[in-house]
Amino acid sequence: MHGLAHGRMFGLAMAMAMALGAGGAWAASAAQPAEPMALRGVMQQMERDKLAAGAALGQQDWAELATRAGRLAHHAEPPLTEKVRILGWLLTDAPTFRNHDVQVKAAATDLQAAAQQKDAAAAASALQRMQQGCDGCHNSFRDKYLKRFYDTP
Ligand code: HEC
Repeated sequence: MHGLAHGRMFGLAMAMAMALGAGGAWAASAAQPAEPMALRGVMQQMERDKLAAGAALGQQDWAELATRAGRLAHHAEPPLTEKVRILGWLLTDAPTFRNHDVQVKAAATDLQAAAQQKDAAAAASALQRMQQGCDGCHNSFRDKYLKRFYDTP
């Protein structure tokens, strides 16, 4: 249900990006944003939750692990205007980008279930799958994203 709503949200943002004309004036505006994009703050919170989840697993603190996993499974997202901007840049890569996020959320949901069942092996496996989702997106998109939105070499 959450995934569907999420998919619709992206669908809407995508439609808006198309309507606004990706590659038009907006997309061609200065690469350096006036304010940092919200995605960075989202990522920093995900990093904190991921590190805390790893520590909680090590300590077998199941309640803390379940809380952190739940936050990762339902992590914050940038506001719609920023999503439109990002999707207008991603264009046909948008589904691949989104799939990495879907993998992170699915693994985080499994992690939460494993924590509730106090299943350390299942939790370790879910944590690893989640990390692969993080790494997959970073490897494919992060450098390009920074170049596009922060003008870094
Ligand atoms: C769908 C793509 C995607 C997924 C999935 C993803 N990231 Fe990111 N991440 C990005 C992009 C793009 C950036 C660059 C954003 C920026 O620096 O403004 C980034 C940047 C970061 C940063 C650097 C932030 C900074 O202050 O420079 C951290 C830390 C991070 N991600 C953690 C994570 C963690 C942890 C996960 C998984 C739980 C994750 N990310 C999953 C796309 C993704």
